[in-house]
Amino acid sequence: MKIIRAKDYNHMSRQAANIISAQVILKPDCVLGLATGSSPIGTYEQLIKWYEKGDLDFSQVRTVNLDEYVGLDSSHEQSYAYFMRSHFFDRVNIDPSNTNIPCGIAPDEAAECQRYDSVISGLGKLDLQLLGIGPNGHIGFNEPDTCFTKGTHKVALTETTIQANKRFFQREEDVPRFAYTMGICDIMNARRVVLVASGVEKADAVKAAFFGPITPLVSGSILQLHPDFTLVADEAALSKV
Ligand code: GLP
Repeated sequence: MKIIRAKDYNHMSRQAANIISAQVILKPDCVLGLATGSSPIGTYEQLIKWYEKGDLDFSQVRTVNLDEYVGLDSSHEQSYAYFMRSHFFDRVNIDPSNTNIPCGIAPDEAAECQRYDSVISGLGKLDLQLLGIGPNGHIGFNEPDTCFTKGTHKVALTETTIQANKRFFQREEDVPRFAYTMGICDIMNARRVVLVASGVEKADAVKAAFFGPITPLVSGSILQLHPDFTLVADEAALSKV
């Protein structure tokens, strides 16, 4: 594990964007695994700035997103599909047909998980997976469990996650209770993993995941075993280690 210690959120975002831009420049048709949440927004903003300056070209990049809420249509403002369009895809020259996100309203949930797994395997190895971390140490929506789940699956969101995510919804009862998420094998198979963490509210999760035992109760802890894992965290997120 490599740790990049950033001063603050903006510095963390620039550091993560640097790694991603190097990937896109070195391999213009790379496969990027992408994440949602407030942690990577600054990273996307930085990449958009470099694209606008003419320094980055996403026309051949292919992407696969980590997760999506079950029950939300891609036009729903809180869906992760909407998030990705507004924070990144609509603002760079990526081909929408090269982007992939689980479908929150698929009628057959098991079939949707299988479809998404075929999408991931069809893309080959992910070149780089970008991650955030949940307050309970989860990655994607891989909630605390008795085992690490390999492929795409439907999860029941824990109370901690519902509480953390309710800030994006008008009412707590509007927060979906289930989500689709890429599994741990999908994430671990990426050639390179970069996780961004910012703020003191992530300090416990960072400590538990990267400085504690490897356990499915803290799904991010598996990254300690990844051969090319970079934690890009600001001082506040690293304040407990
Ligand atoms: C959700 C997402 C994760 C994200 C986490 C933290 O649980 N599924 O991918 O890392 O939220 O989000 P934030 O960065 O907003 O704290």
